[in-house]
Amino acid sequence: MPQQVVQRRSRGFICVNAHPEGCRRNVERQIAAIGVQGKPPRRGPRNVLVLGASTGYGLASRVAAAWGFGAKTLGVCLERAPEGNKTATAGFYNTVAFHELARKDELFAASVNADAFSDEAKRMVREIARKDIGKFDLVIYSLAAPKRVHPRTGAAYNSVLKPIGQSYTNKTVELDSEKVSEVTIPPATDQEIADTVAVMGGEDWTMWIDMLMEHELLAERVRTLAYSYIGPEMTWPIYRDGTIGRAKKDLERVAHKLDSRLRNQLGGEARIAVNKAIVTQASAAIPVVPLYMSLLFRVMKQRNLDEGALEQMRRLFFDFLAEDAAPKYDDDGRIRLDDREMRSDVQAEVSSLWPRVTTENLRELSDFAGFQRNFRSLFGFEVDGVEYSVPVETLVSW
Ligand code: NAI
Repeated sequence: MPQQVVQRRSRGFICVNAHPEGCRRNVERQIAAIGVQGKPPRRGPRNVLVLGASTGYGLASRVAAAWGFGAKTLGVCLERAPEGNKTATAGFYNTVAFHELARKDELFAASVNADAFSDEAKRMVREIARKDIGKFDLVIYSLAAPKRVHPRTGAAYNSVLKPIGQSYTNKTVELDSEKVSEVTIPPATDQEIADTVAVMGGEDWTMWIDMLMEHELLAERVRTLAYSYIGPEMTWPIYRDGTIGRAKKDLERVAHKLDSRLRNQLGGEARIAVNKAIVTQASAAIPVVPLYMSLLFRVMKQRNLDEGALEQMRRLFFDFLAEDAAPKYDDDGRIRLDDREMRSDVQAEVSSLWPRVTTENLRELSDFAGFQRNFRSLFGFEVDGVEYSVPVETLVSW
């Protein structure tokens, strides 16, 4: 098996390769942060399906389910496998590491690398569930996708990140050149709004639940969750009130519908969890938001409040999904994990820094350094303890 030295290669801000050992360390760090080593797992969901399981919130959910509760997990993701000298995507290496570490700890794991929007992915999940898992008692919907081909009509949709109704101007940081500048984003067309809802809204979530219900693969008292974001008013034109927010509102509408169906038929429930802003490939692509996150992380770290994907999912699983949890929901029945981000003192300080941040003081006023490092570590680079001059095996699989 050939080994090679893998150094970070970027196109603009985005890394175009990934480091298998760095990705493995990231997964190990998440497992360690669950903090239950040596103790018996907590009681909670036992058979968990995670859609979008290879990075970000989906991966952290999967780690929390497996190492927090000893659950069998089935993950669905869409990742590029390694080929020749070309490395795989980070999500692929994360999944390889997840499988290796799960095997070591005698946890059942299966993963499907396929387009979750397709009938084929749904068929593969069905087969694995029937053969090796049984009925799911938790289904997490954590896809962040740029496009979707509709399985019935074949229509192709692309999601966009745009305001609705009027253009939006605000500060942003150009991730590549580290310049703080003003950006103006034109409003989305009706078609773009509809297409974004088709990709990131609730239709595919419904299709998954319908399929699993029809094939009797949902357990009594099953729960299903999808993730959303609200954030501060300053970002609403591009997030909450923009195209992605429209898709999230659709997801919330679908949560209510699924909730009443699951309640009636299985005593189950469907909910939205509103999560904190964290660095992922999906969130870094939103205009304005990376500058907001850089300021937010500084303010939250100063107060010892900051959380990454795993800390958020640990709270979700232990405080809301464990059998002995006493969960509290907001007035719309949503789980709020964004409570620390939205604290009034945190938001007041971010707002006071916002007008002052410039190209010159970016690294002083904000945690842009942390944002950048965090972003690179998503691809397995700049991860503590990894010797990047040492050749590694890149042609691996699970
Ligand atoms: P991410 O980019 O880290 O993960 C996306 C996942 O979806 C990956 O596992 C990827 O392989 C999978 N995926 C994408 N297209 C797919 C397809 N066609 N078929 C199968 N798998 C596919 O994203 P992130 O940020 O973890 O987002 C997950 C959810 O959490 C999204 O709904 C997002 O809106 C939400 N969220 C994210 C926040 C953030 O700050 N990152 C904050 C609050 C909510």
